[in-house]
Amino acid sequence: MITTEEVCSVHNMTEAKKFDLLKEVIKDYNKKESNLIQILHLAQAIFGHIPPDVQHFIADQMELSISKVNSVLTFYSFFSTQPKGKYTVSICLGTACYVRGGKEVLSKLKSVLGIDVGATTEDKIFSLTVMRCIGACGLAPAMTINNKVYKQVNPNKIQRILGMLK
Ligand code: FES
Repeated sequence: MITTEEVCSVHNMTEAKKFDLLKEVIKDYNKKESNLIQILHLAQAIFGHIPPDVQHFIADQMELSISKVNSVLTFYSFFSTQPKGKYTVSICLGTACYVRGGKEVLSKLKSVLGIDVGATTEDKIFSLTVMRCIGACGLAPAMTINNKVYKQVNPNKIQRILGMLK
């Protein structure tokens, strides 16, 4: 069975080859609706995001309606239908982070980046997402940028953190 790790070597593949790989993934998962989330994860690993043509391909191959595929995609915040920026900034809105100021950090991120949750800046540098508890509640509110965790963030630190990345 094809894994996410194997799929990570797709950078130089043509679009046609990526669709061939996705077809194989869907076949590996027996076209079962119960495997749709896993298939979407691998589709995102192959294409970087899940645009409409990929959604239609998955729906056709799995003999599902496009609205079924789309409803699963839009329900889970870790799926993206838009290309992501170089940096994905994710603020935790789990209970501990929320009560310790996560919401204010999110407001600051939105205003500094000039985008809403789920969007990417025009220069394709930053994407903004929210997440649930990542197990750093003792040092809430927590934020991640790609794989790096920032603890005890507050609105005053945002400009400096993002400025260091640019
Ligand atoms: S609630 Fe944010 S890290 Fe646990």
